Amino acid sequence: MKLRTEHLFPTPIWIFDDVPLDNDQIRNFVYQVQKDDPDGMRKSNMGGWQSNDFIAPYIDNTPLGDLHHHATANTYTAGDEFGFRDYTLKLSNMWMNINKKGDSNHIHTHSGSMFAGVYYAKVPNCCCGELKFHRPMQDQCIKEYWGCNENFDRHEEAMNFTEWYVQPKENTMVIFPSWLMHSVDKSASDDDRISLSFNMHVFSNYYRENEVYPQKRYNKPNVPLSLK
Ligand SMILES: [Fe+2]
Repeated sequence: MKLRTEHLFPTPIWIFDDVPLDNDQIRNFVYQVQKDDPDGMRKSNMGGWQSNDFIAPYIDNTPLGDLHHHATANTYTAGDEFGFRDYTLKLSNMWMNINKKGDSNHIHTHSGSMFAGVYYAKVPNCCCGELKFHRPMQDQCIKEYWGCNENFDRHEEAMNFTEWYVQPKENTMVIFPSWLMHSVDKSASDDDRISLSFNMHVFSNYYRENEVYPQKRYNKPNVPLSLK
């Protein structure tokens, strides 16, 4: 008799360490943007400051140009491994986050894109809030079948994790499918934690070359209600 264990529908995340970026330059720019736009934008952040979006055509004229380059190159590595072929990636948006003591980001996904990512430009020595990935909610009920924690090694087998943490590290970039739920734990550090998040779209080259994708935006035709 031979046993074969299959892992169905695995969820990848890609962690790139030692991304060669100049964090001093990025941090200075982040603080400059925060000074110019102290209100920023509020999305998943509970406390903390989040910038408005930077978008692809303009980002390369800012100190985030190199980060844009590495985010794209690393997402191509992720996309190739995920199985995409003949495709083009495009950054849909990138934004900055400064979390201080007590700040966190509630559980969310990045709808509207294929890949999401985060780069850490400043990470305090201790307790600045881990990035937490969550098993899809519909699977959370399986905990009910597992009984109490003493029954099994809940934290040693990837197939029964309900959460999984990434410890933030300077010069590390994490890329993940945009539909994967995640959150950021509360920072307990007196120092700032600076990260930059981004979303990437995947475009099929076939669709681009054959103009299946719309080349321009058309206004919605004014169709009488009776014909809709
Ligand atoms: Fe996020």
